[in-house]
Amino acid sequence: MMTQTLYDEGINYAEQNFLDETANHLKVDKELIRSKFNLDGKKVLDFGCGMGGMSLWYAKNFDCQVHGLDIDAHHVRIANDLKAKHGLENVKFEVRNLLEKPLEDKYDFVVLNDVAEHIQLPILEKIFVEISKVLAEDGSVFVSYPPWKSPYASHVHHIVGMPWCQFLPEKTLLKKIEKNNRPIVGEEESDLLQAYKGLNHLTNEKLMNAIKPSGLKVVYRKSHSIVNKVPGLGNVNLRIFPLDYLITKEFVLLKTFKNENENEN
Ligand SMILES: C[S@@+](CC[C@H](N)C(=O)[O-])C[C@H]1O[C@@H](n2cnc3c(N)ncnc32)[C@H](O)[C@@H]1O
Repeated sequence: MMTQTLYDEGINYAEQNFLDETANHLKVDKELIRSKFNLDGKKVLDFGCGMGGMSLWYAKNFDCQVHGLDIDAHHVRIANDLKAKHGLENVKFEVRNLLEKPLEDKYDFVVLNDVAEHIQLPILEKIFVEISKVLAEDGSVFVSYPPWKSPYASHVHHIVGMPWCQFLPEKTLLKKIEKNNRPIVGEEESDLLQAYKGLNHLTNEKLMNAIKPSGLKVVYRKSHSIVNKVPGLGNVNLRIFPLDYLITKEFVLLKTFKNENENEN
């Protein structure tokens, strides 16, 4: 059961992600996608679409067909209601477990925005294998996630009151989360403590291991850092210790074969 308060919270959150270009945690995703990809004429799979904010954004900003899928029925209900509210025809949402019900279509662009860090690694491996099977010729997979060292990777820094709180002693951290715990929209994960416990502590190395069985290869990587806000340093990838703790989001583009002309950035 989703309360009216949580429903309203979900609608507001997803609508902001859809309409507000500066909505905080998706701002860089949107800028990067606009500058690197033209999704006109493409079939887009938004894997783990959640409440649909980004799926609706793809559908509105490109002449593309979007298929959003998620395992959480509460999230998909909100996504469908927002689709109806905004009258977008080129997007459809579905509750689906890809591992139980494989897809039949092929897709040019598969996106996992802030999804990979929420899925246990053995399952994530299998999901990448399934995704690689539904990639159209020359299709790509775009993955964005906050790496575990990121100041906001815990997803609970706002209730604990400090960035990098994932590095507190576990007992102390869990106590703090329990003290400030609150419900969130979700049938699968319905409060912040569950959401924290569901994280897989994703790093680039873990992600690379998870994609291995799928045959997908990295053709582009961008590590977005707080330092990128400094004039003149907008595009640098600062992956060396201790500056790597300032990386807020990793972006990787995967393809089923390595094109020798495209190098890892
Ligand atoms: C943090 S949300 C991100 C939602 C959306 N991509 C966005 O950027 O707003 C993560 C989503 O991944 C979904 N998810 C987790 N495991 C999944 C799985 N095995 N299959 C499909 N979706 C999954 C969750 O239900 C949740 O909606």
